[in-house]
Amino acid sequence: MRRAVVIGTGAYLPERVMTNADFESIVETNNQWIVERTGIEQRHIAAENEYTSDLAVHAGKQAIEAAGIAPDTIDLVIVATTTPDDTMPATATKVQYRLGITKGAAFDINAACSGFVYAMSVANGFIVSGQARRVLVIGAETYSRILDWKDRGTCILFGDGAAALLLDAKEQNGTNDDRGILFAGIHSDGQHTDWLRTNGGVSTTKTSGVMSMAGKEIYRNAITRMPEAVQEGMIALGLPLSAIDWLVPHQANLRILHGVGQKLHISEDKVIATVQKHANTSAASIPLALHIASHDGRIKTDQLLACPALGAGLTWGCFIIRW
Ligand SMILES: CC(C)(COP(=O)(O)OP(=O)(O)OC[C@H]1O[C@@H](n2cnc3c(N)ncnc32)[C@H](O)[C@@H]1OP(=O)(O)O)[C@@H](O)C(=O)NCCC(=O)NCCS
Repeated sequence: MRRAVVIGTGAYLPERVMTNADFESIVETNNQWIVERTGIEQRHIAAENEYTSDLAVHAGKQAIEAAGIAPDTIDLVIVATTTPDDTMPATATKVQYRLGITKGAAFDINAACSGFVYAMSVANGFIVSGQARRVLVIGAETYSRILDWKDRGTCILFGDGAAALLLDAKEQNGTNDDRGILFAGIHSDGQHTDWLRTNGGVSTTKTSGVMSMAGKEIYRNAITRMPEAVQEGMIALGLPLSAIDWLVPHQANLRILHGVGQKLHISEDKVIATVQKHANTSAASIPLALHIASHDGRIKTDQLLACPALGAGLTWGCFIIRW
């Protein structure tokens, strides 16, 4: 059967680094509080004239170069983002053009922090059904533009960044030993839209608004829904949780990452955590962690990875991939 196999990765973090100490002059907080409650040490902030599409192009270009393929052989570009350049056109179309991709289609997906899991699920559907062969999946965000810089409960948590996976259709045996996406499950429940939201948007206030969050509710749901999503996938595959080589969750906060691991009886040394260095980059966080950990030698070919996420909506889900 056809499987969606990763043939290249890329990542980009803006040049400007903002440390926890930098927040001390903006809101009433300190490095110790932020590190103890979140594990976050620093985040990257996009320059004034640097947009989500710019971040996405850097990451996408790197993934294409790593794969060593011609851009023109890519037939779908999906950008997962909650912070598009403009209301229209889709950021993905700008990225497609700037990467020299002239055929196929490009569109954005907005599922907030679950965006990358949603995008991988859609990409997998296109590849397995034969509708696309090569799909560039990018998570790209400039959350610094929608933060309430007066709210210490949220502004310290997020950062800007982008990362990409290039997927290629490969003929495999149809077993759990195959390389590629083995499972992708997505969920949403719209009854708690007010837990994580912006206070405006195109149709309501004609502005993009700024973010607010019910931290405790999101925390509680994150450490419940993400383990459930991993379990759903492993049960569907008929594999024990012990078969997971690496848990690579949405990089929201170190306590959440370890909480998800604990619920699944996966030890901390099998949980990839990169949030310390880039904070929560929403849809970019899972591919950033995958890029970093596959380059530093932790994630190796043929290893089994479980990648769950939860975000505003609520939305949540998990993809399971053999690298
Ligand atoms: C935001 C979060 C770190 C707060 O941690 P917490 O342990 O729940 O802390 P609380 O909200 O109970 O706040 C405790 C105190 O710290 C204060 N506080 C909040 N942010 C602070 C900050 N940056 N610096 C210092 N103090 C802060 C609160 O005002 C509160 O003070 P009070 O007791 O005087 O009212 C935590 O709720 C969380 O991680 N939530 C999920 C966030 C997330 O990752 N969301 C994205 C998922 S996609």
